[in-house]
Amino acid sequence: MLARMSGSAWEILAPAKLNLYLEVLGRRADGFHELDTLMTPVRIFDRLRWTPLPADRPSGFFLEYDPATPADLLAVAPPDSTNLVWRACEALGRRSGVVPFGRFTLMKRIPAQAGMGGASANAAAALILANAAWGINYGRPHLAKLAAEVGSDVPFFLTGGPAICRGRGEKVIDVEGVRRLHIVVVKPAEGVSTATAFHRLQAPPVRPDAAQDSHRRLEELVDTLRNGRITRAARQMVNRLQDVAAQMCPAIEQVREAFVRCGVPGHAMTGSGSAYFGLLPSARQARRVARRLASWNLGTVFATASCRAASPPL
Ligand code: C5P
Repeated sequence: MLARMSGSAWEILAPAKLNLYLEVLGRRADGFHELDTLMTPVRIFDRLRWTPLPADRPSGFFLEYDPATPADLLAVAPPDSTNLVWRACEALGRRSGVVPFGRFTLMKRIPAQAGMGGASANAAAALILANAAWGINYGRPHLAKLAAEVGSDVPFFLTGGPAICRGRGEKVIDVEGVRRLHIVVVKPAEGVSTATAFHRLQAPPVRPDAAQDSHRRLEELVDTLRNGRITRAARQMVNRLQDVAAQMCPAIEQVREAFVRCGVPGHAMTGSGSAYFGLLPSARQARRVARRLASWNLGTVFATASCRAASPPL
């Protein structure tokens, strides 16, 4: 939800994502991997606020964290030019000719190195926010191009809900009709680097026939989710990065075993990990399983649900 606050301040919520299906079709000539994935936004949000600078110092561009942001998240993504919020603002400024200005304040809750797209969600939020606050008013196709330059997952966060993402992730196809999913996420303390996980996969070059088979399996999963059949979905969910990520971070296997012990039918790692999630039939059961998992000290536990992304229609 992009909201105009009092005066000329703007604020937006940036949801996390989960990969319900992630197939790696092979390594490409540019070093990236060709993906076939289904992602959904979930109700775990970061918040990005833009405020104008005081009248006596109207120029300049600042990025800072809200003091409520946990220290471990600050350490992973410092508020400097390496931060995707910063890079998104720079990209929008370059394209539009507007010199970035104002104060961006980020309040983080999405875990880092989790495969939950936190940094990419922040970048998409920054594009939407700055597009409004700086009076640029680009439409979605224009922002989507910029988003793909900032990161493979960023275009997804400009959509309104679940989507199939292909290419290196930047080709986004909206998926309608998927029922709301009740979900428990566990993020072990240890994270996984996306680049290292892809590297360790040692994927062969892309084969054209791999796409056909994966597209068919993914369409079947989408149908299953449209019918709300999560037990069936359990057999169709896949994450090709899970085995390599589990070798890098043994806690992932412990979390998987914990979901089995709780009798959760559908569970998988998201993205390149280390967060792991399970699908539950109701919000009540999600809360119950979350309480049980939390008592085993496996990491940070969230009882959540899929949602329409917080971004406004563009
Ligand atoms: O695009 P992004 O910066 O999010 O990707 C982070 C890293 O993950 C890339 O540098 C690359 O090593 C790896 N990656 C990949 N194939 C993809 C997406 C990411 O190999 N489709």
